[in-house]
Order: sequence, then structure tokens, then C-alpha cells
Amino acid sequence: MEYLKIEILLQKCSIEELGPEEYKLIESAKRATEGSYAPYSMFNVGAAVMLEDDTIVEGSNQENVAYPSGMCAERTAIFYANSQYPKKKVLAIAIAAKDKNGFTKGPVTPCGSCRQVLLETENRFSHDIIFYLYGEDCIYKIEGTKNLLPLSFGNEFLK
Ligand code: THU
Repeated sequence: MEYLKIEILLQKCSIEELGPEEYKLIESAKRATEGSYAPYSMFNVGAAVMLEDDTIVEGSNQENVAYPSGMCAERTAIFYANSQYPKKKVLAIAIAAKDKNGFTKGPVTPCGSCRQVLLETENRFSHDIIFYLYGEDCIYKIEGTKNLLPLSFGNEFLK
């Protein structure tokens, strides 16, 4: 038996270190939290998806009294983007979240189901997605779901 070590790579940045397009996408994700419907968790999540022509699509979490019927911000945004613009590549997604104390201090990280859906979008367009996970104290910039979802189940298994 042997141990295998899998490494992921991410950049920890401050908002000042990012370019104007990156800043704009993060601001969109922060704004998208205002559309959140989260009366059960009180955790308002916003996501902003950047397409190849610079179109930005925003989404937020939408909860339901039957909990599993709700939807995360990331999938709300990505499904809308893929439905409205099925031919446009997804280049990046920014995610932000706030609770009763305001925006989270640390970067908010997407749930497993959202990671799987974002992997599908990468495969669909044969293009890695850049993730910006916003926190008041720092931002994680992550290139590709391979750095968020190691040992993933991708379309290579079904070929
Ligand atoms: N949530 C998201 O919108 N995105 C994530 O990646 C993590 C969780 C939402 C789901 C639920 O409405 C609330 O946050 C608390 O879990």
C-alpha cells in the first residue's frame, strides 16, 4: 500500500492585487447577494459568472421550506448563463456571501454539488473556469475545478 498526496494550488490575494475586470466581477457577486432568498439559513450568497464576451450573469441562493428544493447561488447563475448563452464560454465565477454580520471575513467556498456542476461547464466548453472566492479579509483565486474538486468524476469516464 502507498499513500498518494494530491496538491491543489490557489492564490490568496487582496482586492488591490486584482485587475479592474476581476474587481467588477467580485462587485457583481456582492451585489447579487441582494437577490438572495434565504429566510431559513439567513446566509445570503451571490454569484457572478463572466462569459467570453464579458457578459456578466448574476445569481443568488433561493431557499425553500422543503430544504432540498432550494438552490445555491452558483448553480442559479451558471444554469441561467448556460441556458441564455449556450454557445458562450464561461471564463470565471465570483462568489460572495453575507450573514447577519455582513460579508464573511474569510472566502466563501462552493458546495460539492456546485463544484460538480462547474466541472461540467468546464468540460462542456473545454475551458478552465477561474474562481474568485470573496472574503472581507482576503480573496482566493483558483484556476480550474481541478484545484477545487480533486479526484472528480468527469466525462473522461464515459468515453
Ligand atoms: N449556499 C450557496 O448558495 N452556495 C454554496 O456554495 C454554499 C451554500 C447556500 C445554500 C443555502 O441557501 C445557504 O447557502 C446555507 O447553506
